[in-house]
Amino acid sequence: MPQNEAKRLAAEKAIEYVEDGMIVGVGTGSTVAFFIDALGRIKHRIAGAVSSSEQSTARLRGHGIEVMELNDTGELALYVDGADECDPHKRLIKGGGAALTREKIIAEASEKFVCLIDPSKQVPILGRFPLPVEVIPMARSLVARRILALTGGQPVWRDGVVTDNGNVVLDVHNLSIIDPVAMEKELNQIPGVVSVGLFARRPADVVIVGGEPPQVL
Ligand code: A5P
Repeated sequence: MPQNEAKRLAAEKAIEYVEDGMIVGVGTGSTVAFFIDALGRIKHRIAGAVSSSEQSTARLRGHGIEVMELNDTGELALYVDGADECDPHKRLIKGGGAALTREKIIAEASEKFVCLIDPSKQVPILGRFPLPVEVIPMARSLVARRILALTGGQPVWRDGVVTDNGNVVLDVHNLSIIDPVAMEKELNQIPGVVSVGLFARRPADVVIVGGEPPQVL
């Protein structure tokens, strides 16, 4: 099955988690774009959405869905997002679209995190996909040196990319992440790191793997 079709099928399945009157947390990426389109069809049933990126905000508004501020909504019942990698414990690498920090904030604020993937994202051990780390611009070189020393992975500056928060992204190559919770914690301690694209301390609650039929893990 083409990857895009698997993404679309996962997104359609996720609509089953949307309940009447909900404010839905919405992630970022091509899989979530399908979810936003599906949400557009049932927009009369929801109260609105909290968005993790300017990109998703524009698409939500394009469908006439109200985009709300997390500071105003408080905790959310549901967050739906994609991922770049997913291990058997529903721990994730995210941030391929550079939206990791806002995604992490909304995941933390949400009772249920439903993650949508196509089968190519399933891995036994995280790290084949370069790990994105959002960094304050002045700390870019410092953080890269510390990451190299701590993990042995090779940080590469995602040149030309500025996050919605005005920061830069380092992608850390050649990692094999045996203990994702420990690595998330360790990298978070480096001054200048805004957030790490490991979603291990707060993993997904439900993973939907797109296919015919979609698989719910
Ligand atoms: C955005 O920063 C990422 O975390 C996305 O969730 C991730 O890259 C998935 O993207 P696709 O749905 O486009 O594969």
